[in-house]
Amino acid sequence: MGWVSRKREFSHFQFVLLRDRTGIIQVVVNLDECSEDTAKKVKEIKNEYVVAVTGTVAARTPENINPDMKTGKVEVEVDDIKILSESDTPPFQVEESVNVSTELRLKYRYLDLRRPNVANNIILRSKVAQIVRQFLAEEGFIEIETPVLTKSTPEGARDYLVPSRVHPGNFYALPQSPQLFKQLLMVSGFDKYFQIAKCFRDEDLRADRQPEFTQIDMELSFVEEDDVMEVNERLMKKIFKEIKGFDIPTPLMRMPWKEAMERFGSDKPDIRFGMELHNITDVVNGSEFGVFQNAIDAGGSVRGINAEGCGTFSRKQIDSLVDVAKTYGAKGLAWIVVKEDGYKTSISKFFNDDQIKEICDQFDAKAGDLILICADRNKVVFDALGALRLEVAKRLDILDNEDYKFLWVTEFPMFEYSEEEGRYLAMHHPFTSPMDEDLDAFMNGEVATVRAKAYDMVLNGCELGGGSIRIHRDDIQEQTFKLLSLDKEVAQERFGFLLDAFKYGAPPHGGLAFGLDRLIMLLTGAESIRDVIAFPKVKDASCLLTDAPNIVDENQLTDLGIAIIPQENDSEE
Ligand code: AMO
Ligand code: AMP
Repeated sequence: MGWVSRKREFSHFQFVLLRDRTGIIQVVVNLDECSEDTAKKVKEIKNEYVVAVTGTVAARTPENINPDMKTGKVEVEVDDIKILSESDTPPFQVEESVNVSTELRLKYRYLDLRRPNVANNIILRSKVAQIVRQFLAEEGFIEIETPVLTKSTPEGARDYLVPSRVHPGNFYALPQSPQLFKQLLMVSGFDKYFQIAKCFRDEDLRADRQPEFTQIDMELSFVEEDDVMEVNERLMKKIFKEIKGFDIPTPLMRMPWKEAMERFGSDKPDIRFGMELHNITDVVNGSEFGVFQNAIDAGGSVRGINAEGCGTFSRKQIDSLVDVAKTYGAKGLAWIVVKEDGYKTSISKFFNDDQIKEICDQFDAKAGDLILICADRNKVVFDALGALRLEVAKRLDILDNEDYKFLWVTEFPMFEYSEEEGRYLAMHHPFTSPMDEDLDAFMNGEVATVRAKAYDMVLNGCELGGGSIRIHRDDIQEQTFKLLSLDKEVAQERFGFLLDAFKYGAPPHGGLAFGLDRLIMLLTGAESIRDVIAFPKVKDASCLLTDAPNIVDENQLTDLGIAIIPQENDSEE
């Protein structure tokens, strides 16, 4: 039984390709030999009809073998055929590669999911979830579900809110992660918890972000960083071995956050290739170029990368790299093309050839290379060069999707300054413990320099997961809130239930959460996590299949005590 993928007639034979989730097989009806009824049915059927055939599996004659098809050596010689269900003409051909818009595919996602390559992503996802469950169960983890209708969790994104009918004017928040509940479970004594958990974050969508996504979430008691990292390295090793046959060399490399930023301009470095950042602040300090000097004088830096072999880029191509830098806040980008007989550069007005050579030497540049330099605040310099490095690698097409380069990024800053809010925020979340080495500085309130016991697992430039050792000491938690300018009362109101729980014997604990969607994206080589989610949402967070979100009945709103304030542009229509 299955769906008709394609039908063709050849002399007195009808060939039908029949598809189900395991693959495609050819069935053959011999019009000369079959019953009248079978001949009639096979003529009626069209693409995507659901049919049942009975017959005999037979070897194809050598000249009919199709080497491109898994089942190409056999076919089913049909005795009888039944039509189980008819189909309208589908809006697109259900085939491996279709040339239609994403919008159309997602509107008819149930048809899109019939396409073998899409279906296989979903099947692989199920396999990974099974491996995770089996592995963690064997390690003594207990799977526990935590609530979806709950209170706001502090992961830093906007909450999705659900109004309460029973408590008019009150709202549940959908969890951004099970963070607070898993910590409560540690207080309860379930010393190893895990859950494959749906999380909800109202943030701008990107290729690796959806408003609802899935975490492999875990928490452990009586552990330090090494314990959490070790068990998760083994988990990833098992997944990659079973799914890809790939042996991840463990233990994974660990790179402090500061090193990751300085070498790769990113806290999730793609270490499959070089083109690392170089700091040339000292070399250009004192130059006549105002842009560089102003950045340095303002406490920023001048850094660059050597886009090896990009010296052949046209002016237009270089300009588009400048545009990339600008999207990350850079005000400009200086460039030097290294030639056999000298240099071509955007900063020739400010630096003579000797000075340009001195700069190029910092990058070990040779003829045919292109140096890209950015001067600004450190954050802008790192962001812009980090992005340029990836952009150049993409243009050169030097990245191999099957080359898996894992690492841990560690020693994250505990706090990060938010320009938007004008105060320090927790870089991970406010329950993350400071590093023992920085505890004195932390207690002294040195917000800018304190590092946290936080770690991210990074694969090929993608943050697969992250976690931390949590605070279980009252005085440290209080100091964290103080440094976050969070009033005692506000903290009590928001997370009082957790702080109260900690008064009754909190074990030292820590954990981590992987993004399951991202993991599957990397395992399948998909371009977006959308391709590994059965029913994903699009950029504006809507679902094209169901048309969610949508308006609701007036009655439902009345029940909830909610009135809609018309937006200005609504009334203009
Ligand atoms: P964090 O916020 O780093 O940590 O999230 C953990 C992992 O979840 C994935 N992820 C996402 N995937 C798809 N779409 C999104 N919008 C999205 N946001 C995050 C990423 C990320 O690494 N409670 C902590 C974990 C802990 O401390 O134990 C947490 O949620 O792969
Ligand atoms: P200008 O004299 O302003 O045309 O600048 C000369 C060169 O310096 C141009 O190629 C600019 O792109 C480059 N430039 C401008 N701002 C920066 C910056 N913040 N960092 C690096 N180069 C810059």
